[in-house]
Amino acid sequence: MDKLIIQGGPKICGEIRISGSKNSGLPILAATLLANGPMNICNLPHLNDITTMLALLRCMGVGITINENMAVEVDPTTLTDHEAPYELVKTMRASILVLGPTLAKFGKADVSFPGGCAIGSRPVDIHLRGLEAMGAEIEVDGGYIRARAPNGLKGTHFVMDVVTVGGTENLLMAATLAEGTTILENAAREPEVVDLAECLVAMGAKITGIGSNRLEIEGVKALNGCTYTVMPDRIETGTYLVAAAATGGSIKLRDTRADILTAVIHKLEEAGAEISVEGDTISLEMHGKRPKAVNLRTAPYPAFPTDMQAQFTAMNAVAIGTSAVTETIFENRLIQVHELNRMGANITLEGNTALITGVERLTGAPVMATDLRASASLVIAAMTAEGETLVDRIYHIDRGYECIEEKLQQLGVNIRRVPG
Ligand code: UD1
Repeated sequence: MDKLIIQGGPKICGEIRISGSKNSGLPILAATLLANGPMNICNLPHLNDITTMLALLRCMGVGITINENMAVEVDPTTLTDHEAPYELVKTMRASILVLGPTLAKFGKADVSFPGGCAIGSRPVDIHLRGLEAMGAEIEVDGGYIRARAPNGLKGTHFVMDVVTVGGTENLLMAATLAEGTTILENAAREPEVVDLAECLVAMGAKITGIGSNRLEIEGVKALNGCTYTVMPDRIETGTYLVAAAATGGSIKLRDTRADILTAVIHKLEEAGAEISVEGDTISLEMHGKRPKAVNLRTAPYPAFPTDMQAQFTAMNAVAIGTSAVTETIFENRLIQVHELNRMGANITLEGNTALITGVERLTGAPVMATDLRASASLVIAAMTAEGETLVDRIYHIDRGYECIEEKLQQLGVNIRRVPG
């Protein structure tokens, strides 16, 4: 297993390009299953999760061609199989996103039931109940979700019990080909859901209320192929901004968007960062200062994203003052706290809240990554620490951060990968 070795100390300084969004690339790749012709998807990040989704489409018989500028051509017309096998789903829960489009287009889908993961139990009951409301018959058998709709799906009015990003995406994709109108209430408003909806509209879907918590979808008979460019990754953007703030550094991020990061940018300003936005470039300057501790509470978009919580916890660990960080989306998403404490952080857990007293400096130590965003928080902590930190199990980080060591090296960080 590969490891990262980071020598702490230098303040981050420099300019990098932000990659395409993993969390909108994944549903958009799943959405290609709905098309009647080839789709050309641009700005996909080169990440293990994207590779897994491409492998899943390929094993269903879909034709995949990667062209010279890393755009991926997906031809779903060659599909032969309706199954997402256990071997792929167990490595990536987002494989569940093929359920809605496969069922809507072909009338049947067999998807291995995704298990829990390090950050929580993560059920998919809302995905299944929404599809049942559209007339699907669903059975769980031999570890597989077996969904059938031989006469096609029907429009419905469905209110989601909790705000779920993946659930909204699955039902939105399914509804585009259902007969009649579907209304999805309490839908997720995350920018990745908007990106998917805009891709579906470019394919010929009829969707109104995009960006709101009430989506109305008028089913169409068929969707066409198109070319679509995936939006920039807001979590990658936020992670590098926090890394610069935690180290008292300065950074310029190109090819990104500030309008989908409002809650994160406000918190960074509260921490003392000077942030300026020019077109698709965001710059952050700390003037060498230590950040100030900030309180935060995660909640669905447009509130503070759970995917940025771990990185802010690491920044607060070296900030001036005390803070409370409350996680409300996933039950076990403060696990990185124990590793941060091994590096000299002063954090106590009270239920789903981390109470953090900032220390002036952490110290390097061997630590273990437990999930994607927790790994990013350990890398940020390592950059601020005295001495060397070895981050083990970094396969988690490779699922979500394109070329992380190259980008950090470009920003002046002393980081290297050791193959394990
Ligand atoms: C997506 C993101 C993930 C992010 C999360 C929340 C992708 C590939 N992943 O995950 O990075 O952290 O949104 O912003 O886009 N829930 C149910 N029943 C369901 C579905 C969800 O109870 O059927 C609960 C979950 O347990 C969780 C909450 O709803 O507590 C939110 O989960 P959800 O938004 O579905 O997360 P994902 O789509 O899996």
